[in-house]
Amino acid sequence: MKKALIVIDMQNDFIDGSLETAEALSIVENVKDKIRSYPPECVFATMDTHGPDYLSTQEGRNLPVEHCIRGTEGWKIRPDIEDLLKGTRIFEKPTFGSERLAEELKKEEDLEEIELIGLCTDICVVSNALLIKAALPELKISVDASCCAGVTPKKHLAALETMRSCQINVTGTAPVMISVIYDTRSGNTGKAAEWIACGARRAGAQAACFKTDAVDEEYVRKSSGVIIGCPTYMAQMTADMHRWLQEKAGKLGLGGKLGGAFATEQYTHGGAELVIQSILEMELVFGMEVYSSGNAQGRPCIHIGPVGVNGNQEPHNSLEHYRTYFELYGERMARRAAELFG
Ligand SMILES: Cc1cc2nc3c(=O)[nH]c(=O)nc-3n(C[C@H](O)[C@H](O)[C@H](O)COP(=O)(O)O)c2cc1C
Repeated sequence: MKKALIVIDMQNDFIDGSLETAEALSIVENVKDKIRSYPPECVFATMDTHGPDYLSTQEGRNLPVEHCIRGTEGWKIRPDIEDLLKGTRIFEKPTFGSERLAEELKKEEDLEEIELIGLCTDICVVSNALLIKAALPELKISVDASCCAGVTPKKHLAALETMRSCQINVTGTAPVMISVIYDTRSGNTGKAAEWIACGARRAGAQAACFKTDAVDEEYVRKSSGVIIGCPTYMAQMTADMHRWLQEKAGKLGLGGKLGGAFATEQYTHGGAELVIQSILEMELVFGMEVYSSGNAQGRPCIHIGPVGVNGNQEPHNSLEHYRTYFELYGERMARRAAELFG
């Protein structure tokens, strides 16, 4: 056996029983497809298993919700998944990680790789992944995030991040989406928007640009990050952008998303950073998580947001000169969005 699948605790109590979550229910079909893709002899499964004294155990004192008590309905593996696990090796375990499972894997002579799926990402999936990592350090280990659910979505993401740190390959995460929304009259700010999107794509995100009068609302709603850009008019944002921010942006569900801003100007000291500042202030009002990368990601630093000087009046300058800054900014914003929401 070269590659094995480990299915963690797909039991009724975690799906629609005493510790149910909507997220656990939502992964059931993915889990079934994944099990079908392996021959049964390459599949191992675990079952969280407690006795009637659960509430007086260490775990029970910390989580006083009875679950997976041997012999109860809640303890059983969900029936449609249990059918698919016929002929596989199933291990009962009294706590999060299964030492017996790790011992069994050690006996497999040709084993090169394992993939983990199941419940809950932040407790038993991560515990077993790290236990197996300790037992078999040369084994390749991956976790398919689309077949796992955490106690909460936030804890699911945090556990994936922890596993990444421990060199466990996380697959099955959808790319984060980034919207770049801009105003423009003569095209410069639109160009800068495309450069930002290009950098975001380079960092693995899906990115799209929209002029304020043609925003794809659904795309923006699904986006983890929204970056807003504007030309500088009289050292301020344009009246059109101001109106759009006041009248339209509030309806896009921007709260909680990563927010950033950029601007173009004609003169090196033309006031573009004031434009960025005003946009960022509006983003704070919408409840966005405002970010620029600042000096946290090394040089070149982009403290507030990138500015492009179009060079119409400055022969030594050109918008193209700022392209790499916009691209870098897009890359950094996408990476930050992935850290927060990926
Ligand atoms: C009405 C108006 C006011 C402007 N005010 C400024 C300004 O205060 N400072 C500056 O550097 N550029 C100023 N500009 C130049 C634009 O900010 C600059 O050309 C910008 O790149 C245009 O972006 P766009 O091509 O996306 O429309 C102004 C342009 C217009 C039309």
